[in-house]
Amino acid sequence: MTKKLSGYISLIMIIVLFSLTLVGCGNAKNDQGASGDSSEEVKSSLDKIKDSNKIVLGTSADYPPYEFHKQIDGKDEIVGFDIEVAKEIAKDLGVELEIKDMDFDGLLAALDTGNVDFVVAGMTATDDRKKSVDFSKEYYTEDQGLLIPTADKDKYQSIDDLKDLKVGAQKGTVQEEVAEEKIEGAQVKTLAKITDLVLELKNGKINGLVLAIPVAEAYAAANPDLTLSPHIDLGKGDGIAIAVKKGNQELVDIMNATIDRLMEDDTLDKFIQDATALSEE
Ligand code: ARG
Repeated sequence: MTKKLSGYISLIMIIVLFSLTLVGCGNAKNDQGASGDSSEEVKSSLDKIKDSNKIVLGTSADYPPYEFHKQIDGKDEIVGFDIEVAKEIAKDLGVELEIKDMDFDGLLAALDTGNVDFVVAGMTATDDRKKSVDFSKEYYTEDQGLLIPTADKDKYQSIDDLKDLKVGAQKGTVQEEVAEEKIEGAQVKTLAKITDLVLELKNGKINGLVLAIPVAEAYAAANPDLTLSPHIDLGKGDGIAIAVKKGNQELVDIMNATIDRLMEDDTLDKFIQDATALSEE
């Protein structure tokens, strides 16, 4: 009897232990599933793009002629020369292009989390950013200027005349640094969207807006009450490149080949001319 009982107890214990082991295995599996994110992180961006048959672009479409919203046949579309470059990259990869429009200062984080596969957003390849992402070769350079009310066209003759001025700059951009470093005593207002800063400028809340010159010209063309200051030079030659998540050299190589192709046959120049014309329409 006692033997039988202890036999039962042993049997029950074996069953319990066995099921615990199963649960344990289950957990181990789950852990793997959770870190499946991490095994996915190990998976290169290129593999992810090929598996899903699409590449997701992150951009901030407030930057004409690079990327901007335009009504085309009554439909809101994101256009610009960066978008054309992105389309060519998708074409060379043989995948679909999906565009995600977001705030400029959220783009690098979106790359990091895998929310987007590449960023084409008139992004300057700064040393600081190179610490967190990989860049393609530079495909464009921009100079910096100041967008001001047309009424103030000749008010500022040199940077010294900008002392203590209220100026705007897009949050997280090179222009924010330019405003702070080059204009003595500047009261710098930063906002996520350039379109909102343009409104601030039109309403007299700020006196100037630091922008890359082609962008300032595009906004000036669309808004006759605004002008690129003809006398203010805020810096020259910032190289623009495409960003991908760090550690994706293979993807960078493919993008560089596309950039080479577009630069060699002057397609890129044509993209820039067309986008500039479209932004000034
Ligand atoms: N080139 C500047 C930078 O990288 C500004 C880029 C802003 N781009 C945009 N799509 N709003 O900081």
